[in-house]
Amino acid sequence: MTRARLADPQPVVSGRLRARLEATLSARGIDLSEPPLPEAPEPVPAVEAAQKRIPFDFRDAVADHPGVAQWVRTIAAAATSPYAGSLNPAYGGGGRRVIARGPSLLLWGSTGTGKTHQAYGAIRSLTAAGCAVRWHAVKAADLYGQMRPRPGVDVEWMLRDITRVPLLLLDDLGAAKSSEWTEELTFRLLSWRGENHLPTLVTSNLPPVQSAGMPARREVLRDKVGDRILSRLSGMCTDIEFTGPDRRFQRR
Ligand SMILES: Nc1ncnc2c1ncn2[C@@H]1O[C@H](COP(=O)(O)OP(=O)(O)OP(=O)(O)O)[C@@H](O)[C@H]1O
Ligand SMILES: [Mg+2]
Repeated sequence: MTRARLADPQPVVSGRLRARLEATLSARGIDLSEPPLPEAPEPVPAVEAAQKRIPFDFRDAVADHPGVAQWVRTIAAAATSPYAGSLNPAYGGGGRRVIARGPSLLLWGSTGTGKTHQAYGAIRSLTAAGCAVRWHAVKAADLYGQMRPRPGVDVEWMLRDITRVPLLLLDDLGAAKSSEWTEELTFRLLSWRGENHLPTLVTSNLPPVQSAGMPARREVLRDKVGDRILSRLSGMCTDIEFTGPDRRFQRR
């Protein structure tokens, strides 16, 4: 009789136990001889969670605009792993990366040219790269609606939370009706983020300022949000112009 050596592969369960297991499972309608379920890719929790928060239209968005893709690389490269290496340097590389400080982008151009698509594409890329753990996306008009003072809601706390989120998408700046109050709110939000170099994606239909060759009466972002906000945006953002036809018409 040949004796099994310790190095030989050993069955996980004995023959008798396996027979009992199979009988119990088949009594419950589970057939072990059925082919195993097809391999499904391991879900990445942060990506899965991000997908649910992204509007349906942009769930497959890819940041393929060269300027936006470059920004994604810059932000991903600057992301840090604050917990990596603290316990065991051998596992240091596996620490979760979080978005650190970095530049911001102002994506502007006429309607339907793909600004919001690129912005969500950038959020998806950063999340898939293991960064952007905390991000928030809001249209400027919705932000003003949410921040209206009302009983039982601490809007100051809400503003503070949005102001400090590591990655913010402020969509459609300049599209809402403006007032002293909206200007003040936008100023507080952007000036804090600008001063602290927190990456922010801003989109707008309006060109930032008047430039040569532009019709004199064309409205610009400076007219809509005021000098102080425009100055902050200029300081913190690289601006990228989007041109071309309205993609919403092309989809029909
Ligand atoms: N690169 C792209 N590939 C495929 N679809 C795109 C792309 N860019 C934009 N789209 C689609 O075109 C439509 C318009 O894009 P998007 O909403 O990003 O435009 P926008 O510039 O933000 O417009 P608006 O100024 O009106 O907000 C969306 O349905 C979007 O999914
Ligand atoms: Mg948009």
